[in-house]
Amino acid sequence: MKNILRVESLTKRFGGLVAVNDLSFEMEARSIHSLIGPNGSGKTTTINMINGTFPPTGGRIYFGETDITGMQTHKISTLGIARTFQNIKLFSTMTVEENLKVGGHSRLAPHGVVSYLLNPVEARKEENKLQVASEEIIAMLRLEDIAKSVVASLPYGKLKIVELARALMSRPQLLLLDEPAAGLNPSERAEFIDVLLKVFESGIDLFLIEHNMDVVMNISDKITVINFGSKIAEGDSASIQNDPEVIKAYLGEKYIMI
Ligand SMILES: Nc1ncnc2c1ncn2[C@@H]1O[C@H](COP(=O)(O)OP(=O)(O)OP(=O)(O)O)[C@@H](O)[C@H]1O
Ligand SMILES: [Mg+2]
Repeated sequence: MKNILRVESLTKRFGGLVAVNDLSFEMEARSIHSLIGPNGSGKTTTINMINGTFPPTGGRIYFGETDITGMQTHKISTLGIARTFQNIKLFSTMTVEENLKVGGHSRLAPHGVVSYLLNPVEARKEENKLQVASEEIIAMLRLEDIAKSVVASLPYGKLKIVELARALMSRPQLLLLDEPAAGLNPSERAEFIDVLLKVFESGIDLFLIEHNMDVVMNISDKITVINFGSKIAEGDSASIQNDPEVIKAYLGEKYIMI
């Protein structure tokens, strides 16, 4: 099977702290791959390197066949990788639809404000592209009811879905999700799992960081477990739940399968 993402000996040092330590893994195309581990184990740092927020201290990152190590975030987004953030980053006074359009601006309408002044016809076309893309995503994620609502008025569960919808506006092939289900109640979590699966079925591969084991164990094809920046286990849900080192470092007794 083809890899969509390959990470080789990835390392990140912050001064004397080794946040990610010689980490290697492969993510297959058309899969949901999760990265789990205790607080501070280097999960967000790994995503930050993959999407170009900062370069690694060592190691390489391949998106398909392309070496994207150290590339700028904007370039990586153009190649087809999008992300969501651990803390929601939406414009609270704007509507859902407006937030989506802002999210799509860099990829679908790269000329922005200047083009409005210089070339109104081109600007209109770009605006149309954004409109079509946002309507498509709103329909796919069943957000029609709240499309015209101001973000600040929405419950937390919906904000998480809008955050994901906005990331889709760059038309990614691979979506990196940093704890998308954090803070959701059980019914919101069930709705969120449905949304994730819908996004996956639409053709987008998912790389997921998540503490909530209901989510991780239910939808992951493969799970990589890290502790203190190093990989301690990898496999499918059943093997990870039964791995003694994972149970000791992270899961605790609660998730032992009988
Ligand atoms: N920009 C930074 N500068 C300095 N240290 C950092 C920076 N980002 C992360 N760290 C440190 O690197 C380590 C890994 O942090 P990271 O945020 O990747 O953990 P995490 O696995 O995402 O944790 P959590 O589950 O709490 O989100 C932590 O010790 C953190 O304090
Ligand atoms: Mg984190």
